[in-house]
Amino acid sequence: MTDSLTVRDNRTGQEYEVPILDGTIRAADIGKIRSGEDEPGLAVYDPGFVNTASCRSSVTFIDGDKGVLEYRGYPIEQLAEQSNFLEVAYLLVHGSLPSKDEYDQWVHNITYHTFVHENVKGFMEGFRYDAHPMGMLMASVGALSTFYPESRNISDADNRAIQIIRMIAKMPTLGAWSFRHAQGKPYVYPDNALSYTENFLSMLFKMSEPKYEADPRLVKALDTLFILHADHEQNASANAVRSVGSTQVDPYSAVAAGVGALYGPLHGGANEAVLRMLKRIGSKSEIPAFIEGVKNGNERLMGFGHRVYKNYDPRAKIIKKACDDVFEVTGVNPLLEIAQELEKIALEDEYFVKRKLYPNVDFYSGLIYEAFQFPPEMFTVLFAIGRTPGWLAQWLELTQDKEQKIARPKQIYTGSRGLTYTPTDQRWV
Ligand SMILES: CC(C)(COP(=O)(O)OP(=O)(O)OC[C@H]1O[C@@H](n2cnc3c(N)ncnc32)[C@H](O)[C@@H]1OP(=O)(O)O)[C@@H](O)C(=O)NCCC(=O)NCCS
Repeated sequence: MTDSLTVRDNRTGQEYEVPILDGTIRAADIGKIRSGEDEPGLAVYDPGFVNTASCRSSVTFIDGDKGVLEYRGYPIEQLAEQSNFLEVAYLLVHGSLPSKDEYDQWVHNITYHTFVHENVKGFMEGFRYDAHPMGMLMASVGALSTFYPESRNISDADNRAIQIIRMIAKMPTLGAWSFRHAQGKPYVYPDNALSYTENFLSMLFKMSEPKYEADPRLVKALDTLFILHADHEQNASANAVRSVGSTQVDPYSAVAAGVGALYGPLHGGANEAVLRMLKRIGSKSEIPAFIEGVKNGNERLMGFGHRVYKNYDPRAKIIKKACDDVFEVTGVNPLLEIAQELEKIALEDEYFVKRKLYPNVDFYSGLIYEAFQFPPEMFTVLFAIGRTPGWLAQWLELTQDKEQKIARPKQIYTGSRGLTYTPTDQRWV
């Protein structure tokens, strides 16, 4: 068997041999196919990049049919159970697990870069009282580029490394302050004696107590949620980071684009929709009628189904377990009972089985966030903090990939051509 594709252009009768490498053909090879000398080469039309690889990547592997997710080759289940978020962040960014010295240095560096310039606090205070925290996060991450103008020098490895540390370190500070802003509470400065996730909780919830002490079970659960969200290969926000990053802009601007992509309801907003759905169902007795409505196509069972996973989303299994730990501390959210019953019924129902619809990461995460007393607008901010190392790993890979170019897709032009402009003094008479 030859690893190539023979394409016959029926417009000309000409045949072309297109090499196949790693299960892909190069769009540029297709571009060599022309119906005439002066005609443009054949292009590929793929809105939403449904079947187009945009890069080579060694960061994250997903097998959607088997329900497999691996960061740098390590299964998500092992990382969620045995590692912690900062070690996973190191793994994603550096490509391998740290030695003890490397880990200690990494944690030290991140801990000591959690503070932001006082002027950041000043402009965050200038947002409206009801500003959405994602809008505040997006703006403040982008603004960090003005505090670190040297970050534009993306060809320097040491420079890239320090910006990555800064961004992972400052994201919880910016996220927590956007939360405090909406509540009209004073911003809490980072506490370097606390772990990454404990410090985040302290900046969110500390009031007048001299030291904020979080329940270790809650810290572990939130840390696990960060791990589960840390990367997901070429998803919409990673693609936004890469696309903007391909212009060779600084990493703060590229990550701000990722935050913007995550802000959209099709990407980061599904867990909020799950909560709304569970509240609307209201009680277990209403579930059969709801399921009938879904099967009749009147609505969707939110938190079920995934573009990539056609089997149980491995992250959903881990989150389900984290639910138990969190509810042990906070008391059970009555919506959990409805969620569990819904899942049980849906997993046995032919409609869902036939379409390979299983719970995804968002089915239970909203319940956990609500148990922490986060308002729904904060859910996506939590996602963004967890996703930051993934965005940066993808960005880092992009900056060192010699094959990458500025992202600039083609289009199929459907508009008018060659019209003649009439000046307004003649057109508006
Ligand atoms: C995630 C999602 C957008 C993936 O969509 P997709 O891969 O494009 O799949 P499709 O929309 O083509 O769905 C395939 C079939 O399953 C059905 N389906 C998909 N998700 C469904 C859901 N959550 N509830 C009911 N039916 C669903 C579709 O109606 C379609 O049925 P049909 O073949 O009879 O027309 C989709 O499953 C969804 O909307 N889920 C709910 C929202 C959600 O939880 N999003 C978070 C994702 S992490």
